Order: sequence, then C-alpha cells, then structure tokens
Amino acid sequence: MSQALHPMLNVAVKAARSAGSIINRASLDLDRVTVTSKSHNDFVTEVDQAAERIIIDTLLAAYPGHGILAEESGRTHGAKDSEYLWIIDPLDGTTNFIHGFPVFAVSIALAFRGQVQQAVVYDPSRNDLFFASKGRGAFLNDKRLRVSKRTRLLESLVGTGFPFRKGDNFKRYVKMFEEVMQHCAGLRRPGAAALDLCYVAAGWYDGFFETGLSPWDIAAGSLIITEAGGLIGNFTGDADYLYQREIVAGNPKIYGQLVNILTPYTRVIKEDEVPHAPARTAPAGDAEPAPPDATHVFLQTAVEPAPAKRAPLRIRRTEVDGAARTRGDEDAPL
Ligand code: IPD
Ligand code: CA
Ligand code: CA
Repeated sequence: MSQALHPMLNVAVKAARSAGSIINRASLDLDRVTVTSKSHNDFVTEVDQAAERIIIDTLLAAYPGHGILAEESGRTHGAKDSEYLWIIDPLDGTTNFIHGFPVFAVSIALAFRGQVQQAVVYDPSRNDLFFASKGRGAFLNDKRLRVSKRTRLLESLVGTGFPFRKGDNFKRYVKMFEEVMQHCAGLRRPGAAALDLCYVAAGWYDGFFETGLSPWDIAAGSLIITEAGGLIGNFTGDADYLYQREIVAGNPKIYGQLVNILTPYTRVIKEDEVPHAPARTAPAGDAEPAPPDATHVFLQTAVEPAPAKRAPLRIRRTEVDGAARTRGDEDAPL
C-alpha cells in the first residue's frame, strides 16, 4: 500500500502484531498452555488473555478516551461513553490453536458511532495482515483485495462454521448445510470466522455463512469484505448482522444467491425483541445519525456484560478431546 495508514489503523496493526508474537511464541510449546472451559466445547487459554491484555494496553495507551469491547473482558476496560469503540477478538480460532492446527487470527476493529471504520485481521502463522480503512480499500499485506468475480453459486467455493456449543440448533444448521452444499462447488470449515471473512475479501471463497457468531468475530472482517467490493448481512439480506448471530457474505452475485437459500432459516431478532436494547439515541452534534439498525444499538451501549468470573480449571488435553467427542447430543428443536 503506497498511502500512509490511518493513525488509528496503525495502532491497531501494532496491537495485532504484538498479540501475534505472544500467540506464535506460545504455539511452540502447546503442552504448557493452560486451557479453561468457558462452557461446553468453548475454550479460552491464558494466551487469549495475554493477547487481549497487550491489545487493550496498546490501544488505550494511544487513545485513553476510547471504549473497548473485548471477547474475554467484555466492557471492563476503556471509556463507557465514547463514540469510539474498539471491538477485539484476541485469538479467533482458539480450538484450532489448542490443537496446533495453524488457522487462527487476531481481530481488531474500530467502530465510530456504530459504524466500523478501521479493521485488522492478523494471521500470525503466515504473517499475513488483512486490513482496511473505510473508503480506502482492503489489503492483504501490500496487495489490494477484490472479491471473486464468480457469478454462479454452482461453481462457487463457500466457507461456513459449524455450531458446536450446548444449545446450538444443530438440526437447523444441518438443513441449511445440506441445501447450500447441493447448490455450490464445495464447502469449507477451517475454524476461524475472522479469517473466513478475509478469505471472501481475497476472492478465495465466493461466499460464507454461519450462525452463532459474536461481534468480535465479525466486526473487522465485515469492513474488509465491503472494502473489497463484497456484501455482508443477515440471512434476510439486511445490514443488521453484527448482533444477530447469523451472517452471510460474498461477492454481490453469490451473496444474493446465498440469501435466497438462507432466508427461510433466519432467526433475526426484531429490534424491539432484543433484550435490554435501549431506544436509539441520535449522536451528539449536528452530524448525520448512524443508520437505524441493531448494530447501532449494540455498539452504542454496553450490551454484553463483562463475562462472569470463571473458575480457572486446568484441562488436560485428554479432557479437551473427551469434551469434543460428547458434542451433538443436545440438539435444540428445529
Ligand atoms: C470461534 C471461531 C469459529 C466459529 C466460532 C467462534 P473463538 O471463535 O471464529 O470459526 O465457528 O463460532 O466462536 O471462540 O475461537 O474466538
Ligand atoms: Ca472468535
Ligand atoms: Ca477468541
């Protein structure tokens, strides 16, 4: 990229690279990594926490007045009333990381008045830096990204993520999986949603869909996709995806075809049904109000409380494996 990076993006890149160094160092000796179970099949390691700490320290050292929403510490750090909110997944793909499967990333986005403006997704195994500033394009290292030109879903490679947590609706997912599979050339599930979105931006996938994702999984990747010419939304094709736990993305043609297939499976929560969602407030000053969507509601408020304190538990690798084998027996109804 010939232009200088936006200063806020620069700080995010610095934070992401520092977190990436911690992750790479730890990946050299995975037997020493302490794994804690957040819930059935949902893990966090001391590496997630150390990476998150260095990211938050780096961001707040440069911008002490900004807000922070981070996967492991919620909204504990940073200002609570700032119009700037950093949305952080310190290690996306923790299950892969624990197993030494080299598909994981650091994801950092900056939203201003509810709109993502800066985005970084850093893959430390490959030293690949995906980034975007709103209106200035998306890049992988020094290469400009464009979504693919494929127009037919039948010829498309589509990424997805499987449900894996207790309470996830496996049967509903399997139905949509079956339908998409029959209409495309191939489906992939590498296991790090932030990277999946970058793969759409790079044109390596033509489309992507998943349910159950959180804002930190998708905030950065969403801007990287739109800056690469792609589209992202919920299963009905609307723009309020960040808080809706269902996401579809792709080049514009494939996005439309995926939306057609996935709309019947939508679980979009209408705004007045979102628990604890306050009425929208107009931004201060005479600036344009942010578009009215649930993303805006989410980002303007604390919404996600800081995660409950978890009892640290040293899980031996055999127990991690055992937990993985027990999944799938708690199907929610369709
Ligand atoms: C997970 C990954 C995975 C997706 C999960 C996410 P984490 O993030 O993005 O691909 O399927 O839903 O929770 O927990 O490893 O940060
Ligand atoms: Ca994640
Ligand atoms: Ca994570």
